[in-house]
Amino acid sequence: MIELINVSKTYDNGLNYSVRDISLQLADGETFVLIGSSGSGKTTILKMLNRLISPSGGEIYIDGKNIRELDKVKLRRSMGYVFQGVGLFPNMNISENISLIMKLGDAKKKLCRDKSAELLETVNLEPGKYLDRFPCELSGGEQQRVGVARALVNNPKYLLMDEPFGALDAINRDALQEELIRLRDRLNTTIVFVTHDILEAKKLGDQIAVMHSGELMQVGSFDELSTCPSNNFVKRLIESAQQSQL
Ligand SMILES: Nc1ncnc2c1ncn2[C@@H]1O[C@H](COP(=O)(O)OP(=O)(O)O)[C@@H](O)[C@H]1O
Ligand SMILES: [Mg+2]
Repeated sequence: MIELINVSKTYDNGLNYSVRDISLQLADGETFVLIGSSGSGKTTILKMLNRLISPSGGEIYIDGKNIRELDKVKLRRSMGYVFQGVGLFPNMNISENISLIMKLGDAKKKLCRDKSAELLETVNLEPGKYLDRFPCELSGGEQQRVGVARALVNNPKYLLMDEPFGALDAINRDALQEELIRLRDRLNTTIVFVTHDILEAKKLGDQIAVMHSGELMQVGSFDELSTCPSNNFVKRLIESAQQSQL
């Protein structure tokens, strides 16, 4: 379980807040979606979970442990992270990209390659075809799949995904969403998923946290947000989903 208690982040001693006084609970096995417009603090929250960013205030607990007291590197490696915009290393082939963290941990070359092959299968890419290619030789959708494979390399209990399908066309995005649902059910991973797309949030999220200007507007299932929106912002967001499905 992940718990945030009154978490804030400011870069200018409280003049502006990227994230302000957020409290959340994320249960094991669920897909927790953070939704909000650009600049609303979604990436900041995600990065605070694995200590890429340290909060200015508040506490974060993972499985009952305050993350301030955990080893930063170990924490980071225990959580899968799919970056906004994929972020594959252009000078490394796909196998090297996926297994980089294993190699940093001194794993042997053959082991790295075998694990990369296994993970490519997991994300529906034929290992024989992709292991030795470079990122520039892959389509956007394929790169995104490799990004997911790389995040799974340490069999993480938690998977953090920052707008992973944001740059894809509708067909690729739909396919990857379906695959993610299957993957989650098979691996029983807890996923924190950032998006600005309410239809994606509806499809994937057991719980949806709506962010606006660094503040949490509401958290609940899509049905809860629909039946009982806490304010006009949430109401409009839900209505935009309902209209685009007509
Ligand atoms: N290093 C930084 N210094 C100052 N402000 C920052 C920094 N990083 C992010 N911000 C600000 O924090 C706010 C939230 O950013 P972010 O979490 O990236 O938003 P989102 O992911 O929802 O688009 C934005 O206003 C952004 O400009
Ligand atoms: Mg972001």
